[in-house]
Amino acid sequence: MKALMCHAFGPIDTLRVEDVPTPVPGAGQVLIDVKAAAINFPDALIVQGLYQAKPPLPFAPGAELAGVVSAVGEGVRHLHAGDRVIAAVGHGAFAEECIADAAQVMPLPPGMDFELGAAFVLTYGTSLHALQSIGALKAGETLLVLGAAGGVGLAAIEIGKALGARVIAAASSANKLALARKVGADETINYSDEDLRKRVDALTGGKGADVVYDPVGGSLAETALRATAWRGRFLVIGFASGEIPKIPLNLALLMERAILGVFWGSAVRRDPAAHQANMGQLAQWFAQGKVRPVISERVALADTAAAIQRLASRQAMGKLVVLPELAA
Ligand SMILES: NC(=O)c1ccc[n+]([C@@H]2O[C@H](COP(=O)([O-])OP(=O)(O)OC[C@H]3O[C@@H](n4cnc5c(N)ncnc54)[C@H](OP(=O)(O)O)[C@@H]3O)[C@@H](O)[C@H]2O)c1
Repeated sequence: MKALMCHAFGPIDTLRVEDVPTPVPGAGQVLIDVKAAAINFPDALIVQGLYQAKPPLPFAPGAELAGVVSAVGEGVRHLHAGDRVIAAVGHGAFAEECIADAAQVMPLPPGMDFELGAAFVLTYGTSLHALQSIGALKAGETLLVLGAAGGVGLAAIEIGKALGARVIAAASSANKLALARKVGADETINYSDEDLRKRVDALTGGKGADVVYDPVGGSLAETALRATAWRGRFLVIGFASGEIPKIPLNLALLMERAILGVFWGSAVRRDPAAHQANMGQLAQWFAQGKVRPVISERVALADTAAAIQRLASRQAMGKLVVLPELAA
């Protein structure tokens, strides 16, 4: 089978499509015929050796996929060859076939095609876990989403609306903000030419945002924390800017703000039942038309390294989906 292989942690453009042996599922695992896989920011970090998890070399990147089960390992009861599924796999999805832990495999939700299914688990799972379980976002509260046209950002907007919040989307360009509005943002802020804090104050009558969703980090994080309301919750999602901010803790004390870390992958492993419940909620919202991944590009395996590079350098919007059957 063909797979996009990483032989050494380093530049993204060193990834190459190669013929590799089809893996055999072990106990508790299944083999999936990959129909679609989606690119996420952590893929760029993993291949450069900059992520907290470092897979053994060589490996294929790709953390989420949709496809058809082709073989099941020992002890797997709830999955069978021919099942149409979605899965979070950590790595290995940018390939024609991929091994997954059966516990991380779910049926493709009704009404969803493989492309949408591939783009569903990681970003929507992260944003629902963050906003509901960690941030306790309530109907009527104001949610500020940074990096709002990115993968987790767009999901946070839709989930914020589904939870009944007023959503302020913040991003770096008019195009990105137009997309944020299209998926449901009530207000927008362009942080490349507007003062984020002043605009949040103006939009909230000086109160600030009740919940801030920050996948960007860098200098934007402190500004956004200063725009967080009394007893607001600031969600640390990631550092797409490349800079982990150092925050003066008086900003938490003065307004009784909570700074809350979010690590979806670890939460899924520690509490699989909560993850299943969240995915059930998301599938229901999908059926009701409340959430739907925005797929901006479809690429072949051979073009996947360039697509990861575009995502990592701020040039992408929404989800980029890899289709192993697509000719380059
Ligand atoms: N905590 C968790 O459990 C969890 C789970 C999944 C992902 N994450 C993290 O969430 C972050 C976003 O992931 P994603 O897949 O949504 O990525 P994405 O689609 O690339 O979105 C990231 C956004 O960050 C903004 N950004 C600001 N400065 C940037 C820079 N120098 N380079 C690239 N982007 C920059 C961009 O928006 P603007 O141009 O509008 O600023 C971009 O749209 C990543 O740090 C990822 O590791 C965390």
